[in-house]
Amino acid sequence: MIEILENIEKKIEKLFEKDTSGHDIYHLKRVMNVALTIQEKEGGDRLIIAVSALLHDLHRIMQNETGKFCSPKESIPKIREILDSENLTEIQKNNILHCIEYHEEYNFSANGKTVSDIETLILQDADNLDAIGAVGIGRTFSFGGVYKVKMWMPEKPFDRETYDESEKDPSIIHHFYSKLMKLKNNMNTETAKNMAEKRHKFMELYLQMFFEEWQGNI
Ligand SMILES: [Fe+2]
Ligand SMILES: [Fe+2]
Repeated sequence: MIEILENIEKKIEKLFEKDTSGHDIYHLKRVMNVALTIQEKEGGDRLIIAVSALLHDLHRIMQNETGKFCSPKESIPKIREILDSENLTEIQKNNILHCIEYHEEYNFSANGKTVSDIETLILQDADNLDAIGAVGIGRTFSFGGVYKVKMWMPEKPFDRETYDESEKDPSIIHHFYSKLMKLKNNMNTETAKNMAEKRHKFMELYLQMFFEEWQGNI
């Protein structure tokens, strides 16, 4: 397993080198590590989980290149190419591709959630954990910088009830409410639910401070 992971890391390092939108190689590694921590308690295939975590955001790089929204599904042919040169069975490759294709579906997204296999559920949880807490806050603002999203626009209403990755929030703070603050209750596994608690509380505190400073109260 270690050899496959090292090979893949070498292959993708260059691709993710320039990313400053929060989807760099360190995001992939953090997601992999968190996913493997969750796996220890929840079960599932460690190889499938680790490889899909390392490759799950290739579509983000395609998006950076074109400037247009790109879904995980669109990255599947490229990922298959990478997997084809590794010592993996057809079943393993298909399971990895499945995890990647469906890892961005949420209960609160327009299409809802359709996956039920433990590997995809764990990848989703790990990816969502990296989107919240101290790291999540940092990544959200980095993303906003790259895609030229304003920090906060108090005059814009919070009108998104369902979530769709292709739709832009008017500001970063809006994004906290359309997605980040909903992730805690969207975790699939008990282990991830527990891990999300602390990160969620930290974001609540962050938002409270943000608004108090914004009003000039403190
Ligand atoms: Fe993703
Ligand atoms: Fe991700």
